[in-house]
Amino acid sequence: MANHFSQLARKSKANGPIEKVSKEQTGNPSLEIYKLGDDVLRQNAQRITKVDNSIRILAKEMLQSMYAAKGIGLAAPQIGINKELLVIDVNFEDNAAEPLILINPEITNYGTTLNSYEEGCLSIPGVYLNVVRPSTIKLRFRDEMGRPRKMKADGLLARCIQHEMDHLNGVLFVDRVTSKEDLNKELIKEGFHEKDVMPIK
Ligand code: NI
Repeated sequence: MANHFSQLARKSKANGPIEKVSKEQTGNPSLEIYKLGDDVLRQNAQRITKVDNSIRILAKEMLQSMYAAKGIGLAAPQIGINKELLVIDVNFEDNAAEPLILINPEITNYGTTLNSYEEGCLSIPGVYLNVVRPSTIKLRFRDEMGRPRKMKADGLLARCIQHEMDHLNGVLFVDRVTSKEDLNKELIKEGFHEKDVMPIK
């Protein structure tokens, strides 16, 4: 998910522990992020059967690329890796806040309240549109050490998790936009094509 407010990100005041990924990545993302129209974004991701060092290295590289691209979430399919792995950090301005690494995430409960919020996506840069989603969720996942975890989320975090989990099913946020007029206007403005959208039935 693209970060709409990256220009507001504050400068780092201190370096974190060596294992931490700096939130102040400079230059282009090290991993190529695929864009709307690339077939790789439309595949179903596969469960990760073993959480080993290769997964942790991948998660770290995804975090670096996400921060470099000024995003708040990145799913493995966006970099052409067909695995159920997400990295998320809605506290990009707070260097002390830990990012979330979600492996094999499953939503176990959706709240009944819906809300509408403007989303963006690193795979559809420059396009920002309102999407309606449940405002609270419960989920389970494995962390980067393979440990089973559970959490509740609301607000921007709940929105971001749902957006990133869609990527694991080959779904993009533009598929969920109900205003076709707004959608086409935004896509054309950024050089994307309506034919690459697959509306949710
Ligand atoms: Ni996205």
